[in-house]
Amino acid sequence: MAISIKTPEEIEKMRVAGRLAAEVLEMIGAHVKPGISTGELDRICATYITEQQQAVSACLGYHGFPKSVCISINEVVCHGIPSDERLLKEGDIVNIDVTVIKDEYHGDTSMMFIVGKPTILGERLCKITQESLYLALRLVKPGIRLRTLGKEIQKFVEAQNFSVVREYCGHGIGKGFHEEPQVLHYDADDQGVVLQAGMTFTIEPMVNAGDYRIRSMKDGWTVKTKDRSLSAQYEHTIVVTDTGCEILTLRKDETLPAVLVN
Ligand code: CO
Repeated sequence: MAISIKTPEEIEKMRVAGRLAAEVLEMIGAHVKPGISTGELDRICATYITEQQQAVSACLGYHGFPKSVCISINEVVCHGIPSDERLLKEGDIVNIDVTVIKDEYHGDTSMMFIVGKPTILGERLCKITQESLYLALRLVKPGIRLRTLGKEIQKFVEAQNFSVVREYCGHGIGKGFHEEPQVLHYDADDQGVVLQAGMTFTIEPMVNAGDYRIRSMKDGWTVKTKDRSLSAQYEHTIVVTDTGCEILTLRKDETLPAVLVN
């Protein structure tokens, strides 16, 4: 498999795309309230991306996806289609997944929002999922096996009695939305991939409160937990540096530094 090593010029373009993707999440948070529809949230994101950012949503039209962002609530694991019928209600946990293209390069990020007063389980699941992403970010540096990331995420998540979704993974990213390598979030064959400076990829663990198995819905997109337990996901786009990694999609609400020395 060929994993591309980005040039400094390409990394600079990815910084811009990454920042724009993060800013969509920073912007939309204030709108995530009981009573708003996911269709309306999508329209707000779409307008912001095209008009404010002069960028393009990579999701819109991707293999026929009909909306600009994915919005996945509660037992929906990923790829939820925004809809005017689905109104947010108190206690929902909501993932908004944003991928923008700017100057040909992609920035891909997602986070959880809790609507109104959180449930104890919903809040804990979101926190553990974000921590599982952060612990992987703190491991990234040249010379380590790609497999290490999934192995440590799985160990951490399962110690909390949650489970890691197997069917979806992080991915190389650049001019392509999905490039090599596949970044698995559980311990599995990585075909010997060793991280090198200049690799750009996402880490995006999906964590279920119950069983790890999933089921795809008839709309061809929506994926739910098989046992209908809650599911959460956080995602960042990163570049491997000489000493660790740089988070290209870091938001202002996060306490991590953008450049991690690991
Ligand atoms: Co992604």
